[in-house]
Amino acid sequence: METTIQHISRSPITNKEYPIPSSVNDKAGIDDFIALHPGKKVVVVQGLGFVGSVMGLVVANALTEEYAVIGIDLPTASSYWKICSINEGVFPILASDPKISLYYENSRQKNNYYATYDPYVYSKADVVVVDINLDVKKQTGAGNNLEDYSVDLTPFKKAIESIGNNCRPDVLVLVETTVPPGTSEKVVRPLVEDCLQKRELPITELKVAHSYERVMPGPKYIDSIQNFYRVFAGTDDRSANEAEKFLRTVIKTDEYPLTRLGNTNATEMAKVLENSFRAMNIAFMVEWSRFAEEAGVDIYEVVNAIRMRPTHKNIMLPGLGVGGYCLTKDPLLASWAKMNLFGSSEGLQQSEKGVRINDKMPLYAFEYLQTQFNGSLKDKKVLLLGVSYLNDVGDTRYTPVEGFYDHLEIEGAITSLHDPHVLYWEEKDIWINQQLDELLKEQYDLITITTGHKDYRNNPQLIDKLLAHAPTFIYDTIGVLTNEEIKTLSTRHTVKVIGRGDL
Ligand SMILES: NC(=O)c1ccc[n+]([C@@H]2O[C@H](COP(=O)([O-])OP(=O)(O)OC[C@H]3O[C@@H](n4cnc5c(N)ncnc54)[C@H](O)[C@@H]3O)[C@@H](O)[C@H]2O)c1
Repeated sequence: METTIQHISRSPITNKEYPIPSSVNDKAGIDDFIALHPGKKVVVVQGLGFVGSVMGLVVANALTEEYAVIGIDLPTASSYWKICSINEGVFPILASDPKISLYYENSRQKNNYYATYDPYVYSKADVVVVDINLDVKKQTGAGNNLEDYSVDLTPFKKAIESIGNNCRPDVLVLVETTVPPGTSEKVVRPLVEDCLQKRELPITELKVAHSYERVMPGPKYIDSIQNFYRVFAGTDDRSANEAEKFLRTVIKTDEYPLTRLGNTNATEMAKVLENSFRAMNIAFMVEWSRFAEEAGVDIYEVVNAIRMRPTHKNIMLPGLGVGGYCLTKDPLLASWAKMNLFGSSEGLQQSEKGVRINDKMPLYAFEYLQTQFNGSLKDKKVLLLGVSYLNDVGDTRYTPVEGFYDHLEIEGAITSLHDPHVLYWEEKDIWINQQLDELLKEQYDLITITTGHKDYRNNPQLIDKLLAHAPTFIYDTIGVLTNEEIKTLSTRHTVKVIGRGDL
């Protein structure tokens, strides 16, 4: 079939452009790759994002078995480059974990990690690991004013159908995507069974299991998959047993034993409950940090005193907001499932409210600034240090910096951005300046620390550079500045830290 150029997919890592083929046919590529690995089990990882691409790497470097690993993603502008990148020798994730390049090099040498966009690959799979996204759509304004949300299972179902329409009847489908509780049992298994039946294939050998990821992008990226505790369950005993067998080959289960739960509803609930717990803990601190500001109390001092108590060690500190793909949606996925998959008349109200509060945090941070600038930041020159949502990671998805930035833009501020880990801010279509020295040559009315990267933390050179800057307003929304640094900077600048009351 002739292939014509339809669209372009651009790598944010190398800036290279890849024409997207208009037809989906990579049968020869898949067959050639598999022919290189006779006798090896084929593991297909569906979704080559922050989780799937690295899970694929971990499986290609499995502990006790040699697999032929094939990642599959969609030939879309936002994802096709990941496929090309993996096959060309550039791993599609920038991460501070040195194990990523080590594992990738190893898989290149073994030539055991291939990437494709052709669903034909499912016909070759012994195991399909599902690592695609399942999004919650929020109706938000620029201020992240959460009014309502919706969950549309259609893209997820389509992805499962593409497995069912191609897979062998004895495949193990291991769902790792964070799904609304009930999904593996009520959606995935029936869908694959239905597809198999339409293909006049038996359904008795099918295995569907769920095991959620606790992956943490950052310096321990690989370890957070391979050297960490895992929870899993099957839609039946055979599925659970097969999933266990597979997980034991890739995860160091002698040191990090697996936890098997009774059914997939339980594992799915465990995942969203884990994240809801964290999101609620943060939301809880929002009102307390505002109270602390009003009362002129330093919430950091208070929290550190409370943390001395072993039962209260994980009480959170305030910040600019909650970001990332998971904490911003998982409580809503749970609430949606309660109503839509289990027929409850009401959702998880506290968890939903927690998300609403967290989504408003950038607005609070902005409103506070307005009060410091006589009600308006119009025409003020602002430098934001950090656009990623997480320290030392280049992930901008749902970063709270976005809401904060939007408010500044709407207000008419002139904003410059720095982030050592983000070259291109995809959601905003902005290339980020990584030269802090260059940026600091400019004069600003306001310098805001918006991400806790180590470049901004305990960095005497940064403090010196800031001291050399003309008097300005420094706003630390993350609490990275130490008391000593605040004192030093205050000799020249006005310094404010979220939750620290009057400094
Ligand atoms: N990022 C994290 O830190 C993290 C941690 C734990 C769990 N999770 C969960 O893991 C899942 C994946 O998250 P992520 O961060 O990797 O998301 P992501 O958006 O980075 O990646 C998802 C990928 O799946 C691809 N995809 C979508 N539909 C597909 C289809 N039909 N066929 C093939 N590929 C398809 C997308 O194109 C994308 O590349 C989510 O459920 C998330 O909640 C994420």
